[in-house]
Amino acid sequence: MKPLCLAVVGFGRVGKVCADALLDSKDLVLAAVVRRLDSLAQSLPEAFRKIPVVSHVAQVQTVEGALLCVPMTQVLDAAHECLQHGIPIVESSVLHGEAFQAHRDEMHRLAIRHKVPAIVGAGWDPGALSLFRSLFALLAPEGYTETSHRVGVSLHHTAMARQIAGVKEALCTEQRATNGRRQRYVYVELEQGVGADRVIDAIRADPLFLNDETLVFPVESIAALEQEGRGVLLERRGAPGRLGHQQFLLEARFDESLLTAHMMLAAARALPQLKPGAHSLLDLQLSSLWGEQHKKAEGEWL
Ligand SMILES: NC(=O)c1ccc[n+]([C@@H]2O[C@H](COP(=O)([O-])OP(=O)(O)OC[C@H]3O[C@@H](n4cnc5c(N)ncnc54)[C@H](OP(=O)(O)O)[C@@H]3O)[C@@H](O)[C@H]2O)c1
Repeated sequence: MKPLCLAVVGFGRVGKVCADALLDSKDLVLAAVVRRLDSLAQSLPEAFRKIPVVSHVAQVQTVEGALLCVPMTQVLDAAHECLQHGIPIVESSVLHGEAFQAHRDEMHRLAIRHKVPAIVGAGWDPGALSLFRSLFALLAPEGYTETSHRVGVSLHHTAMARQIAGVKEALCTEQRATNGRRQRYVYVELEQGVGADRVIDAIRADPLFLNDETLVFPVESIAALEQEGRGVLLERRGAPGRLGHQQFLLEARFDESLLTAHMMLAAARALPQLKPGAHSLLDLQLSSLWGEQHKKAEGEWL
């Protein structure tokens, strides 16, 4: 099958990961990067030296889809620019509930007017996490779903770790290992010249940590760690009743830009089969996200 040529619009966090992933892809090709005029003078990393960089998507020679990686406030304008030139789009604006519906309706009007498909909300959340939420709810109807966006940070344990001599800043998370045992992950930013071993021993020896498996990780900066790593705990409990009690748990730690980029690329594979109009991930066939690998995926995951 002929690879699908895609443009990445906006070279920020998500755009850069999309472009990187496209360079590695076998069935998708990075046709160009579209940047603001102000950014055109900034050179891209060496890996992209053969990739055209332009200021308007209409300047790209062969393009069958555009991944919109611009700020949410710019998404509709960027979408309009693509759709009016007959270029299908994938976007991942962080909108939920009624705001998402209104955005989708607006995108639908544009896409219908220009007779082109558009995929909306194809990131991590909304996106992949919406698929998990929806599947959990199908399996446990009439239950309730709880989402927490940071995996069990333990303030008490964090405060204790901060008191150890030589620790500048600390963050302690807790989670359950697959065998049910509680694990504590303690991240510590050390004062200059302080040896990590002494601090690790002191934390592990504290009575607060003695009963749990405690892993201590020295890091450069706790502030940077808090920015980078996102976590989620998604729990669905079925309503108790004569059908038994179902419970589902998804625990994940990840780089949100990376997951968003992966979902946008997967969604792009579905573009050639779509009718004009706006589509969310829930409208797409799961097999279409695998592109030419759908048979292999069916064999592996069904
Ligand atoms: N669904 C999800 O889970 C999820 C998660 C994260 C992000 N997102 C979405 O992904 C998109 C990109 O997010 P990001 O984190 O990559 O954003 P970002 O790091 O701020 O990058 C956005 C890029 O867009 C370009 N841009 C165009 N017009 C701009 C303007 N007026 N102001 C600033 N930048 C402008 C810039 O690239 P150039 O300099 O190259 O022009 C900029 O680097 C957003 O729509 C966001 O909502 C979704």
